Amino acid sequence: MPPRLMIAVHGGVGNTPANLDGCIKAAELGMAKLHAGEDALAGALAAAVALEDDGRFNAGSGSSLRMDGETIEMDASVMDTQGRLGAVAALQRVKNPVLVAREVAETPHWLIVGEGAERFARVMGFPEFYTVTERAKRIHEKVMEALSSEGDYDFQDEWRNFDYKRHWNFKKRWQEVATQHGSSTIGAVAMDANGHFAVANSTGGSSPMLYGRVGDTPIVGCGFYAGVQGAVAATGIGEYIVQHMLCRTVYGWLEAGMPLQEALDHGVALFPKEIDIGLIGVSREGAAASDNRQMPTHVMMN
Ligand code: GLY
Repeated sequence: MPPRLMIAVHGGVGNTPANLDGCIKAAELGMAKLHAGEDALAGALAAAVALEDDGRFNAGSGSSLRMDGETIEMDASVMDTQGRLGAVAALQRVKNPVLVAREVAETPHWLIVGEGAERFARVMGFPEFYTVTERAKRIHEKVMEALSSEGDYDFQDEWRNFDYKRHWNFKKRWQEVATQHGSSTIGAVAMDANGHFAVANSTGGSSPMLYGRVGDTPIVGCGFYAGVQGAVAATGIGEYIVQHMLCRTVYGWLEAGMPLQEALDHGVALFPKEIDIGLIGVSREGAAASDNRQMPTHVMMN
């Protein structure tokens, strides 16, 4: 008999397997919601919130710093097969952007960005929150060092060679940024007892990033998608993911009858090896993951 309740979570492609316990805990929290009779979106959201709060993943409390070394801008999204679709982009000073995305899904809009998103969050009762983890500081230092030297940090050549100084758009002056990586996202997909699918995604973005940069995570069909055949979430560098409208592309293969694992593997294979990509998905046949790097992931089915 096929599984009745399913959840898959990931802690971001490139994140260390040492953080797998955070994914297991998140999946268990999500599965507990499904067991309690809550719907797929509630399950995916519970898992996403746990990962945002963990601090070891690039989302929520663990979000990466932008290049000025102080700004945090986050993107998040939710979608399910009951018609709910909501996202936020470049949102600052909120603890759980994925919960704000969930609120957006209750408005006539699907995406709210920047200052408007922050004001919306306050109106919905989300208090001001700002924290920077030691991990985010270390990553920022490494990125800035690598940009200002021929360091061995392995971001893409076009990012390393780009003239950030000329395009600098932060309030703080370039000169004030001491020489004092990363691109990942957390995500969860779920199926509930009524056969509904949902996805919840959240990220602190990629590094290095200009002020206002938005990746794939809040863009429907790119970083996430849910439909009657299943739900898919992506992690990796957004600039590449959007070019393939990755999650809608993978979902299209599910619609055409491709098995889930094969569809996820095909999605990852669209990218050259040096571009980090990870996918999780759920369909009526099960839940699965695929990646071309290390990616802490946990899948539960029962
Ligand atoms: N996938 C996260 C980002 O590129 O923002």
